[in-house]
Amino acid sequence: MNASPSDPAAVHADGLTRSFGSRRVLDDIELRVAPGEFFSLLGPSGCGKTTALRIIAGLEQADEGRVRIEGVDVTHAPAHRRPTNLVFQQGALFPHMDVARNVAFGLSTERTGRKETADRVAEALDVVGMSAFARRAPSTLSGGQRQRVAIARALVKRPRVLLLDEPLSALDLSLQLQMRRELRSLQRRTGTTFVCVTHNQAEAMEMSDRIAVMAHGRIEQTGTAEDLYRAPASRFVAEFIGENNLFEITGTQDDPAVRGGRRAVTADGGLGLPLPAGACLAPGAVVAVRPESFRITAPDEAGAAGRAVVRSTGFLGALVRVVLATPDGREILADTRAGGATPTVGDHVGLAVSAADVTVLPPATRPAGGPALAGGER
Ligand SMILES: Nc1ncnc2c1ncn2[C@@H]1O[C@H](COP(=O)(O)OP(=O)(O)O)[C@@H](O)[C@H]1O
Ligand SMILES: [Mg+2]
Repeated sequence: MNASPSDPAAVHADGLTRSFGSRRVLDDIELRVAPGEFFSLLGPSGCGKTTALRIIAGLEQADEGRVRIEGVDVTHAPAHRRPTNLVFQQGALFPHMDVARNVAFGLSTERTGRKETADRVAEALDVVGMSAFARRAPSTLSGGQRQRVAIARALVKRPRVLLLDEPLSALDLSLQLQMRRELRSLQRRTGTTFVCVTHNQAEAMEMSDRIAVMAHGRIEQTGTAEDLYRAPASRFVAEFIGENNLFEITGTQDDPAVRGGRRAVTADGGLGLPLPAGACLAPGAVVAVRPESFRITAPDEAGAAGRAVVRSTGFLGALVRVVLATPDGREILADTRAGGATPTVGDHVGLAVSAADVTVLPPATRPAGGPALAGGER
């Protein structure tokens, strides 16, 4: 698939590699963002997201690889010659300028007439819902309002692609939740292509058309939130997107309940998890079961994967989180619908799961994880 002038990707970054000293921070990254798409680059702190975004913006050079924007090769073009604009985490506004002048500053490098500047500033402030604040000083605004002004300052240049680096992470949680919807609606209304960097999986899932999950300078998987959640391609994605119970496996046994069916025997927990048809267990493969996929049954129910005892329960609203332990002490998370039968602490129960809800993940090709990964709030 090559970008052709008749159907170019909004952004096509290809083979991007970048090292700082001896440390390879980006390792052969490919990103293809469709026109009008809300695309997120999601990964833990330090995985190379900002570096990738700065290379697309022209604020940083790649050692290898190319950047094309709408089919035009901009690999060696300086930032101000690219149809992109970058909004930083804390969109620093000039304290001595009012909101409108801060936004107009975005146009100061262009030869825009007075009337057109005023019109475009008014339009940009209108788009972010800040028209009433045009004459206010930044110090009188809330964090969310300041970030909206920073976005207006970037939009006033009418970039083809708006690049956002953790635009919401400096805001408190309730404001983040509100701004997620606002950013999404803003992106739809303007039709601008957004490429948004975040370490927060819930944020990426809520806002994006598609997400590229990044770890250790590489793209692990690109897809819709649902693709990544339902069909993670790697152990890293399975753990970083939503929550998962991961099991090492020691072998398989025939499943008497299903013709030709097999169960994976887990090393920890001693469960017998039914395998989807055709599942291939390479050495080192692991299986994953989402908490909501476990069904809590009577302890002796036929076909159950194994037994466990309830350690704690927690009310989460629509769901009740049940923490269980297998006889050998392996912890398992199971979510049940609130309002149904909820087990109590100390209950001996069975755990059942359908083969379709068991995901087989290939062995990690490089060290998975590293430091504890902050996936944001769930
Ligand atoms: N200018 C630089 N000089 C040296 N190391 C850098 C520089 N910029 C980033 N790094 C390092 O590259 C890695 C990736 O950084 P970054 O792209 O900022 O990650 P992220 O945005 O995902 O947190 C980090 O280890 C960071 O310390
Ligand atoms: Mg960063």
